[in-house]
Amino acid sequence: MTTGVTPATDPRSRVDGLGWVSRAVFPDDRVHLTLGGAVPDGQRAVARYAVVPSVPRARFLVPLGAPRAGAASLLAYNALRPPKVRVMRAALGGLARFGAAGLAPFPTLTVSVPVGAPVADLVLTERLAGALGGTPLLAACGVRPPDPNAKPTLQLFTVDGRPRGYAKIGWNDATRALVTAEAAALRALRAVTGVPDHPTPPGLLTETAWAGQAVAVIEPLPPDVRGVPVDDPPRIAALLAVARRGDAPGVSRPLASSTFLARLAAQAQRATGAAGARAVAAVDALARRHGDTTVEFGHWHGDWVPWNLGTHDGRLVAWDWEHSGPDVPVGFDLAHDAFQRSLVLRGEPAAVAAVAVDAWLGRHGGRLGLDAARCALVADAYLVEMWLRTWRLADAGAGWNPALHPALLDVIEKRHSE
Ligand SMILES: Nc1ncnc2c1ncn2[C@@H]1O[C@H](COP(=O)(O)OP(=O)(O)O)[C@@H](O)[C@H]1O
Ligand SMILES: [Mg+2]
Repeated sequence: MTTGVTPATDPRSRVDGLGWVSRAVFPDDRVHLTLGGAVPDGQRAVARYAVVPSVPRARFLVPLGAPRAGAASLLAYNALRPPKVRVMRAALGGLARFGAAGLAPFPTLTVSVPVGAPVADLVLTERLAGALGGTPLLAACGVRPPDPNAKPTLQLFTVDGRPRGYAKIGWNDATRALVTAEAAALRALRAVTGVPDHPTPPGLLTETAWAGQAVAVIEPLPPDVRGVPVDDPPRIAALLAVARRGDAPGVSRPLASSTFLARLAAQAQRATGAAGARAVAAVDALARRHGDTTVEFGHWHGDWVPWNLGTHDGRLVAWDWEHSGPDVPVGFDLAHDAFQRSLVLRGEPAAVAAVAVDAWLGRHGGRLGLDAARCALVADAYLVEMWLRTWRLADAGAGWNPALHPALLDVIEKRHSE
């Protein structure tokens, strides 16, 4: 062993990503997890995983017992992944086709339950298989470093390797809220059909509260979905369709009397301490600067970035709806697109990302009915909304995003003083 743990050690006691993920997926302590193939006395094995590439550097839990499912878990959706990851997964997927023999170089994680115990009550995968119709399912799980902001996910496959669902596990206040919000958004989107230019969301297959967790199972993306290139121009028609959901353009209303502004103010009031006071002041300044400006309000996706968008059969597919909601200034998704491409793709600081928002709105906002005054409103309001999102996550225990706090408050205050 190179792991520094004995084969019998339960990976849930680890402080690394494997510990975090295995605690989220197997929270019930009646379930035994053992490294190695042995099954403790009085227990029966219900699943086995290859821990790839090793216990201390685990990246994936690949299900054993159905080679086509194991291979599919490494090969499916590879077009969405960065080239280096794709190459590694393709090679591992080739090995997985040979089943346990192909994956023999990797340690095995054995999941077992007491003989006679109701497995669907103890093991999430079994419970989800039951909720999805009872066909046996195998789950693959990516392992990342522990992150209070992230959701462990299970990719569910049938024995013959067909994707059956994508399960997101909310395990703390922050991620439970996100998973619940995404499930609600996908449920609401079921009613949005036949709207020209509306991107296709994946369906919600089932949602369950389990062992203190919120779990949403989302329909698999189309197998041949391709990611939208990260330097593509924004999809304006799709953005408008998301905002309006097939309704006529909304009547523009002044920011000052909007329910949106009232909500922003109420949220800022809830933020405590020095940062909370700065947020309240930022909302006041927003009202002073733009209160008389009229703007259209509508829905937004909430995380509209190229890496949450793909195409399939010439149609746009949009996933990751966990920040979606109604009643925001139309143009928020366009602002977010610019902000995140700057912050995440180009690694720029919040101040530069805010300038990118202005530039993107200036360039494309006209097609959303935004003149210069409305572009300024959308940009300023979006930045406040983004700081409040950062605060909400921090308040729910996910920690402050260091790229956005306190930098974004500084940026907002500087803009308001100009
Ligand atoms: N329904 C799905 N089917 C297959 N793969 C999915 C599905 N939903 C998400 N993914 C993959 O997992 C990645 C992360 O999921 P996402 O919903 O964007 O969550 P987040 O970015 O909040 O972790 C996506 O970029 C996509 O590659
Ligand atoms: Mg995403």
